[in-house]
Amino acid sequence: MNNRKMRAFMSTLLLATALTGGPALAAESAAPAATDAAPAARPWMNTTLSADARADLLLREMTVEEKKTLVFGYFGSPFKERNYVPPAGIRMGSAGYIPGIDRLGIPAQWQTDAGVGVATQRDSAEPMRERTSLPAGIATVATWNPVLARQGGAMIGKEARLSGFNIMLAGGINLVREPRNGRNFEYGTEDPLLAGIMVGAQISGIQSNNIISTIKHYALNAQETGRFVLSANIEEAGARMSDLLAFEIAMERSNPGSVMCAYNRYNGDYACESDFLLNKVLKGDWAYPYYVMSDWGAVHSTAKAANAGLDQESGYIFDKEMYFGADLLGKALADGSVGMARLDDMNRRILRAMFAHGVMDNPVAVEDHKIDYDAHAKVTRADAEEGIVLLRNQGDLLPLAAGAKKIAVIGGHADKGVMSGGGSSTVFGRGGNPVPGTGPKFFPGPIVYHANPPLDAIKARAGGEVAFDAGSDPAAAAKLAADSDIAIVFVNQWTGEAMDFTLTLPDNQDALVAAVAKANKRTIVVVQSGGPVFMPWLKDVGAVLAAWYPGTAGGEAIARVLYGEVDASGRLPVTFPGSLDQLPRPKLDGEGLPDGTPFDVAYPEGAAVGYKWFDRKGLKPLFPFGYGLSYTSFAYKDLKAEVGADGTLTLSGSVTNKGDRAGKAVPQLYVGPVSGGWEAPKRLAGWQKLELAPGASGRFSVPVDARLLATFDVAKKEWVVKPGRYKVWLGASVADLPVTTEVTLKGSSFSAVKGK
Ligand code: BGC
Repeated sequence: MNNRKMRAFMSTLLLATALTGGPALAAESAAPAATDAAPAARPWMNTTLSADARADLLLREMTVEEKKTLVFGYFGSPFKERNYVPPAGIRMGSAGYIPGIDRLGIPAQWQTDAGVGVATQRDSAEPMRERTSLPAGIATVATWNPVLARQGGAMIGKEARLSGFNIMLAGGINLVREPRNGRNFEYGTEDPLLAGIMVGAQISGIQSNNIISTIKHYALNAQETGRFVLSANIEEAGARMSDLLAFEIAMERSNPGSVMCAYNRYNGDYACESDFLLNKVLKGDWAYPYYVMSDWGAVHSTAKAANAGLDQESGYIFDKEMYFGADLLGKALADGSVGMARLDDMNRRILRAMFAHGVMDNPVAVEDHKIDYDAHAKVTRADAEEGIVLLRNQGDLLPLAAGAKKIAVIGGHADKGVMSGGGSSTVFGRGGNPVPGTGPKFFPGPIVYHANPPLDAIKARAGGEVAFDAGSDPAAAAKLAADSDIAIVFVNQWTGEAMDFTLTLPDNQDALVAAVAKANKRTIVVVQSGGPVFMPWLKDVGAVLAAWYPGTAGGEAIARVLYGEVDASGRLPVTFPGSLDQLPRPKLDGEGLPDGTPFDVAYPEGAAVGYKWFDRKGLKPLFPFGYGLSYTSFAYKDLKAEVGADGTLTLSGSVTNKGDRAGKAVPQLYVGPVSGGWEAPKRLAGWQKLELAPGASGRFSVPVDARLLATFDVAKKEWVVKPGRYKVWLGASVADLPVTTEVTLKGSSFSAVKGK
């Protein structure tokens, strides 16, 4: 049974309709063959011409049938309940496929998920593609190191290319508005600047392989509960200063070939038929030149979607109808509800992206024997170890000294591997899943682990005795801990697509930690999770590491941080709340509603997402945004805020390593108007990551994006920087900002429309 999207269907209540009146099998309805003869020459293959000119030349040669072909995508895996057999030419077990046009030399578009590597749809008949997995997106963002994000992107993009894919469905950038969102692990942060820079870096790494990356899910797709039906209602200015700004910044930095519109509605309209999101903001104000593809099952109409700016329907068999299929699109063209100019524009955008991103000139082939897995394991390890956040370290319990101590390793399947997040983005590691049969039986489960056991990596370093206890019986685990010098407890919270989660660790793991901590004060907790979790035992344990889902080399990465082979240099990209009461919406909207019941989500926080909400309300979280300890300590000084001749505000300062170990500092700069008037007292304005030898100092200087000094004026479509005094903060997290200064800004306004 193909359960890949079964859950999705059940949730949308589309199944019944589809089964009774659904479209014909893809195999029978594959795009019609071109009738025109092949042209004698292919002037569009002249690489000295611009992508624009090449797309125009090619478009002129295309028949209407061919134009209809490029705007309609198929799911890349069989779906037995619906008798769906994907068309010949797909890469089996992939996310999607759009047939090519041989006559004109247009290659097929082979699409693979997603942000941590080449995923496989788990129900395909073929063996899984076993590939390298990066740590979760949230872990990469927690490095605060765009160089690593880019390298990771380049690595997974290379595996995508060598696996025969020219489109990677990566670039998840939805802001973490809702800590319970099951997909936070795919995204990364609550801050638009951090999101834009880090996700942008990863996208540009992926695209450095002459393939296209998406950025997704556009927009305001902040929770999984009711994702097919909910309307995210947030006024325009709030959206522009938060989620939309994250997209805007990432897109400016990475030029993604495609934008994937989301499942949810925005202010009433489905995101994939939102004239505001697609035509007005994306293609209008931001002058986006490439194409919008839908999420799989996110299209609800032909004319409305096409005219709102959707360029390509993805993943046929997930929509109720083949809205952009040859028949319905043909009818819409015939009755004029979709104009030929729109169909041309859809094709031009797709072709332009394929030319601009090297897809036309650098055909992909399945050459997976060329993947250098050893080299790629080093890339993912570097990312994972810099993303691990040291949350607590009483009496310098960490780093562990290599020596003859007796260590108890407890729980979390640490003897087998490390956890990964669930759903379409799941990458299957080499050697298969070492912990089969856990979690939900069907999509987004079962839970997949990567066979890189932390236990082995600890043993390799410990020198003394290392004993393992599975952790299922807290009393037995506590007994082992009492007999050991040190206890390392692994606790896991699995999260996944199509579901949301509580912030409480499942399976009695809080009781396990409490029991172990009671037996041994020298207890270290390693948390694998997709986002924030509650830690009722925090005060009783010696040390805590947030390891997220650390990917293919995760066990090694965790051990390297535990043993101080690298500094602990991750910093939280999200606030860890102390309780649900602190959230803007303590109750998750839509929870408990019958599947498929539409509902609205009002966002009381507006643009004040995450730490901004906590700051505005004066709430003390469990751990603040930006927080993370190091094995050394840093001092910050020399903060300067200077306005250049062109009006750019530049913030600079210095940081000194005060300890006797090398370490990596992440000095963070925040800014806010002295007299208030923003959604929150302060916003992240910049940061830098610096490696410092003991006693060494480093300087940093960051120009501030003027949008971060502005509020959005909807009527004028302008960013407005109010004249006046602004405060600037420098320090180690949003809650630890010891150095401040002030600067006067003259005030300015500038258009939100690119090129204006
Ligand atoms: C997800 C997308 C994914 C697509 C293709 C959808 O369920 O929301 O992120 O790229 O499936 O698998």
